[in-house]
Amino acid sequence: MKGVVLAGGLGSRLYPLTKITNKHLLPVFDKPMIYYPIQCLVNAGITDILIVTGGNSAGDFLQLLRNGSDFGLARLSYAYQDGEGGIADALKLAEAFAEGEPICVVLGDNIIEGNIKKAVDDFKAQGDGAKILLKEVHDPERFGVAKVEDGNVREIVEKPENPETNLAVIGIYLYDAAVFEICKTLKPSHRGELEITDVNNEYVRRGNLTCEVLDGWWTDAGTFESLYRAASLVREGGANRMDLAPAAGS
Ligand code: DAU
Repeated sequence: MKGVVLAGGLGSRLYPLTKITNKHLLPVFDKPMIYYPIQCLVNAGITDILIVTGGNSAGDFLQLLRNGSDFGLARLSYAYQDGEGGIADALKLAEAFAEGEPICVVLGDNIIEGNIKKAVDDFKAQGDGAKILLKEVHDPERFGVAKVEDGNVREIVEKPENPETNLAVIGIYLYDAAVFEICKTLKPSHRGELEITDVNNEYVRRGNLTCEVLDGWWTDAGTFESLYRAASLVREGGANRMDLAPAAGS
């Protein structure tokens, strides 16, 4: 299983913080935001990782992360997304990297407390299709929201005005190689983006999307409120454990 961290986009909800740098380089308590999704993958045993970035300061990722050895990565690759075409547009850039293998995709502004290893192992056993992770939230209108019956996802609605459930689809997705063919069929949404929710709904239609509820806290960090909340949660409870190599010279 390979890992993909999506760290493109303009981060316009965090202006002016993101006027001169990339959202995923901003601090979340004591570490740059991008550290958390990378560590999330490493803690699940995934060490062959592609980072898709774009917009401002793309070169700074290379300077910060170098070859990924601080995280114990086997290989760290980079891709550049032109513009802000959406999450599924960024994901398209991972096709050559994936080489037909299943992938675990993590949004660069998503931070979790726990470990996704069980979900990754369950997906390996599942064999094909896709798996998403859900979390009960008090503000589902900010997210993709899942309708679930008998443990099966019936539909996902992106940022509904009147959510039917409080089950948010978190930004960690497991896909087989079919995901790239699906991405190529998508049309831009009303916000002009290729939506990851449309990808997941296609797997629902094909009858091979499974879901699990995530243990522990989860937050995004893409708005002032959620960035503040993410820093507080990390400070109070610690996010997924990081055993980083010491900085050179320290
Ligand atoms: O956080 C989970 C939510 O993420 C899901 O519940 C939603 O279904 C999903 O659409 C997404 O919602 P957002 O509108 O909050 O996503 P946002 O535009 O903030 O992008 C999230 C990350 O995806 C961002 O940190 C980097 C990556 N991204 C986004 C865009 C638009 C890219 O790499 N390229 C892009 O063009």
